[in-house]
Amino acid sequence: LDNGLALKPTMGWLHWERFMCNIDCDKDPDNCISERLYMQVADVMAKEGWKEAGYEYVCIDDCWPSHQRDAQGRLQADPQRFPGGIKRLADYVHSKGLKLGIYADVGKNTCAGYPGSLGYYETDAQTFADWDVDLLKFDGCYMDWTLLGEGYVNMSKALNKTGRSILYSCEWPLYEWPFQKPNYTAIREACNHWRNFADVYDSWSSIKSILDWTASHQDVIVPSAGPGGWNDPDMVFCLSHAQQESQMALWAIMAAPLLVSNDPRDICPHSKELQDPLGNQGYRTAKVDNFELWERPLAVPGWKICDPQCNVTQILPQYKEMGVQTPETQMVVSVNPSGTALLTITPLQKLYWDTSLRRKHT
Ligand code: GLA
Repeated sequence: LDNGLALKPTMGWLHWERFMCNIDCDKDPDNCISERLYMQVADVMAKEGWKEAGYEYVCIDDCWPSHQRDAQGRLQADPQRFPGGIKRLADYVHSKGLKLGIYADVGKNTCAGYPGSLGYYETDAQTFADWDVDLLKFDGCYMDWTLLGEGYVNMSKALNKTGRSILYSCEWPLYEWPFQKPNYTAIREACNHWRNFADVYDSWSSIKSILDWTASHQDVIVPSAGPGGWNDPDMVFCLSHAQQESQMALWAIMAAPLLVSNDPRDICPHSKELQDPLGNQGYRTAKVDNFELWERPLAVPGWKICDPQCNVTQILPQYKEMGVQTPETQMVVSVNPSGTALLTITPLQKLYWDTSLRRKHT
């Protein structure tokens, strides 16, 4: 979507994978979906270097609204859990130098059964703009699939009409795939990123199924990713050490938004910023038994020219300079079960040009 936003994949925090629809603030005041949670998350993100690492958006997912719209037909936050309302929460988050994301649904209801935006796209877009919200995650539950495209496009137009810069995160293709192949040109025109596949959940098999889906549809989805619009393989979160490194490395290769879903008050180590301005999505090049090889072209000129020599650096699991390699040399890299080795391969440009100059001279 050409709205000047998401020129690099979005980075931030999103509550769903970790906190889901926990609305019991009597029994679980620290972990329920309430203004307190987002304020505490914003505090930690501002204080502990998340912001400097590029994590910018604090995002609310489902279960924030009241079950009733107000007398003017506007959505309102649950008054017990958000006594200050969303506008005050946005002010708070902005005061920490961060941005606020909110969640709504293209259909009659949200997936958890709260009011959806069907019939209210302009009202809801204006409400979010009036509250100074910076991102909208727009879900696709309770919607006739033949109207999905129209709904997502109309909300995109409604957001644009407000005049406020609101990053637009869609789930359009996820809900369309069961019926037909989505039109990724239209999706990219309307959305800043889009979910393609089932929700991630707290398990390694969930991550593997996302990778398999992505690899088996890469011919269709990879070309649609680039500055302004990205495939969204869903949230990243805490797993075992090796698995977490794998998730970060593979999400970086997939040029994915990095929306962390963890409890930042409980440190989740090893979240790394791995973003690149070129914006080409990576892809799988080989799968042999349990080993997979993925690559992503980065904004390094001539990255493919590893002739005659390249500098290889291992980024994960630990930083290691592997020295200069040529097409003839062989490297050995060890990979833990369900772990990843992430390497950057950089052409020795100076040498390359010197060599070619010398060639020219002789
Ligand atoms: C859907 C979405 C999830 C989350 C839930 C909330 O399942 O795909 O990411 O937003 O709804 O109910």
